[in-house]
Amino acid sequence: MVLFGASGDLAERMLLPSLFGLHHDGLLPASFQLLGSARSAMSNEAFRSQVESSIRKRAPELAQNASKLQSFLQLVSYCKAQIDSDSDMQGLAQRIKELRQASVHSDVLYHLSTAPKFYGPICTRLHAHGLVDAHTRVMLEKPIGSNAKSAQAINSEVAQAFSEDNIYRVDHYLGKEGVQNLLALRFGNALFEPVWNARYIEQVQITVAETVGVEGRAEYYDESGAMRDMVQNHLLQLLCLTAMEPPTRFEPSAVRDEKIKVLRSLRAINARDVAQNTVAGQYTAGAAEGVAVPGYVQELGRESSTETFVALRAHIDNWRWSGVPFYLRTGKRLPRRATEIYIQFRAVPYSIFQTSAPIQPNALLIQLQPEERIALTLMNKTPGLDRGGVKLTQVALDLDWRDAFQSTRRKVAYERLYLDAIEGNGTLFVRRDEVDAAWAWVDGIFDAWREAGMQPKAYPAGSWGPNAAVALPERHEHSWRE
Ligand code: BG6
Repeated sequence: MVLFGASGDLAERMLLPSLFGLHHDGLLPASFQLLGSARSAMSNEAFRSQVESSIRKRAPELAQNASKLQSFLQLVSYCKAQIDSDSDMQGLAQRIKELRQASVHSDVLYHLSTAPKFYGPICTRLHAHGLVDAHTRVMLEKPIGSNAKSAQAINSEVAQAFSEDNIYRVDHYLGKEGVQNLLALRFGNALFEPVWNARYIEQVQITVAETVGVEGRAEYYDESGAMRDMVQNHLLQLLCLTAMEPPTRFEPSAVRDEKIKVLRSLRAINARDVAQNTVAGQYTAGAAEGVAVPGYVQELGRESSTETFVALRAHIDNWRWSGVPFYLRTGKRLPRRATEIYIQFRAVPYSIFQTSAPIQPNALLIQLQPEERIALTLMNKTPGLDRGGVKLTQVALDLDWRDAFQSTRRKVAYERLYLDAIEGNGTLFVRRDEVDAAWAWVDGIFDAWREAGMQPKAYPAGSWGPNAAVALPERHEHSWRE
């Protein structure tokens, strides 16, 4: 495996510890080697010590296994590569060829954890140096481009070197255990499918709330904003998996064929209805988890109209979902970290109970973060001998993942994704047409914001976004789950 951007933040936080997790569990192929690459010169020893400190910091429990840590470090080496330097690229090509010759398998997985503008040039150079063939794959991080046009340009350049089957576009949300559990829940149980449609579902909410601010990534984030950073990819992928038809098999084409139909059925939001269906926000100074924090503009050090919060009311125009609103929201500096899908069923058609309290509709909560949890709320008789008639209370049938699977080590999303990419399984990766369709919908909202002159509304750090975000579902007699 060749990791470009090996000295970067993502590598340090996620990628290197995840590879070590796979090694720790004996899941890497016997002949696995990791070649790190980045723009600056570094010795193998220096890179190994970076890898070691990242693992010790991010996966301290696994790192206690000293022999596994040492054996992993033996698999690691480094080669500097400035993409536009021919001599660097020749040196890199030489190293890769040597590693391939020394190995039983000659497969190579290139992981580009760099700025997306380098994806095309890196792939072009790899191809020019004879480093791309039927046994090589490339993994690309999100975001691919910043709109449909730039994404198409990047994807086209990458496609000159790699065939679509060998391109693995990462959306790390698809590697999360809870996301796959959503598929298990939907397609491993007979119970839900008959009610998984507009006839029985009143509304769906998908929330990805973060308490963090822009975490030292202000320059990247200011170019991107919540819509490009989160909605175009993570939220739309969650929406697809929630709403798609049952795929014929759990395999790449079948799953992606169903996801793309959802993306293509998303109703376009235009300048006339954008103010009714979307809210953009930007956080001002406030408090995060009890600590005073500055506003986005202070963190950035200049004025900005980038949104750090988005709430949307989306519609999927097809038979299954006609008329069901999908409320999506995501933001930085919200009151708590939460990633969840909340499905509210329709109310009973008629109540036989003569109680004053209304019967609450059933709801299914699929929580992915901070903990994995599935809860189904049901109405239950309130215990007691009330003369005034049966009283009902809402209770939750709760599956707490930690209790149910206590002995299983919790895997980081990248462990799943790396394992699949190494083994050549693209089911949990994003196909080119999905990227295009997601951008097309998101670009439409940007155009509508521009045309309608909409700007992000202020919200204090530590709140659930601008007031308008609360009003968004309330206009339709729905409210956010909090
Ligand atoms: C990344 C975004 O894709 O996802 C970040 O660029 C965000 O801004 C992160 O913080 C959230 O991921 P997770 O796994 O912590 O929910």
